[in-house]
Amino acid sequence: MSTALDPVSRSTGAPGPTDAAVVPEGIAGAEWLARYRGAVMDTFGDPRRVLVRGEGVYVWDADGRRYTDLLAGIAVNSLGHAHPLLVAAVTGQLTTLGHVSNFFATPAQIALAERITALVPQVGDVPNRVFFANSGAEAIEAAFKIARRTGRPRIAAAAGSFHGRTMGALALTSKAAYREPFGQLPGPVDFVPYGDVAALDAAVTDETAAFVVEPVQGEAGVIPAPPGYLAAARRITAERGALLVVDEVQSGMGRTGEWLAHTATGIVPDVVTLAKGLGGGVPIGACLTTGAATTLLGRGQHGTTFGGNPVAAAAGLAVFAAIERDGLLDNVRSVGALLADGIRATGHPLVGEVRAAGLLIGFDLAQPVASAVAGAALAAGFVVNDVRPDAIRLAPPLVLTAAQAQDFLDALPGILDAADPAAGTGQGAA
Ligand SMILES: Cc1ncc(COP(=O)(O)O)c(C=O)c1O
Repeated sequence: MSTALDPVSRSTGAPGPTDAAVVPEGIAGAEWLARYRGAVMDTFGDPRRVLVRGEGVYVWDADGRRYTDLLAGIAVNSLGHAHPLLVAAVTGQLTTLGHVSNFFATPAQIALAERITALVPQVGDVPNRVFFANSGAEAIEAAFKIARRTGRPRIAAAAGSFHGRTMGALALTSKAAYREPFGQLPGPVDFVPYGDVAALDAAVTDETAAFVVEPVQGEAGVIPAPPGYLAAARRITAERGALLVVDEVQSGMGRTGEWLAHTATGIVPDVVTLAKGLGGGVPIGACLTTGAATTLLGRGQHGTTFGGNPVAAAAGLAVFAAIERDGLLDNVRSVGALLADGIRATGHPLVGEVRAAGLLIGFDLAQPVASAVAGAALAAGFVVNDVRPDAIRLAPPLVLTAAQAQDFLDALPGILDAADPAAGTGQGAA
């Protein structure tokens, strides 16, 4: 006999008569856009399309057009869209146990914490530990609070940095236009030129609680740290007793062809932040600590209702499993190289420097026409990102195949021509 708590009495998840009513269907993109403007706060500007469905590296808009998604929700959909492992893990967990609060633990939360702690070597006797959050900014907030617990007043960050939009994360984000509307932010924060060892050496003192740095500055246009920079940052912070916080929110979880972008440098940070690709599209963030940093936040000093939620944790476990099972780190390295080399090889007059770390790729444009390039790409059936007025970013799913990458490379000259003012056809097609 089954009871309400017995698995056999649960929903199978098959579409039922009420499912269609939950998310309206069959409405054209223009109508959705008008409704968006009426109901969603205008912090992002108009969306370029209303997307209704995704499968693998493809997404479809409300008008039925298909796009190859070379942005993956800004480096988030690491397994592409509707990946069977992710779908099974999330639906399986949701039909079993969807949320419990941090008064309780769950197997998914514990297993994911173990996977994340194993990404970085242990320092001394203290085991690595994880604090779960729900986004990149929240992972950074946890790191900021850990830094404050050193008792030191100052914090250092890099020019060009992006660490998120909450007040603490914003304080560490270098772009003045993002910070200035919001008055006094936690600090003082000393911004140092990215990649400049001498400047970092001068800026980090015994008043510095932490230096927070991205191994690849994604929002700045995909700028990898110069060789030796992270090692120097490790040495300088260790010498002065400051923490090294490595923000892997965008660069982590296989994006660069390593589990973490800093792994190959051999350094061990005090704190590593993760989010974006960790949940493959399900919101989750994580703040990982090593050594003495692990004990800086004590009981009651930090918390969150949703952090460690079992559905999000199951998603994270699925991402780990798929990357391992399908050899995605190798795929990232080979398809990333193919894409970056192919962009360089276009020889198009608009294309300037191409920078790549696995499947995190940025290329400069000779003119500030990135918005028009992104528009022309959409018109040609590709999602790319105008990360700066004069630079394009690609951060496709880690499952992108060589053939799918080649489709984009074949289309790229036409996309660039369509956006090139010198060709006389420049237009913001979106
Ligand atoms: C390096 C880095 N840190 C933090 C964040 C903030 O993450 P979220 O948007 O999930 O708050 C981002 C987002 O782009 C990021 O790239």
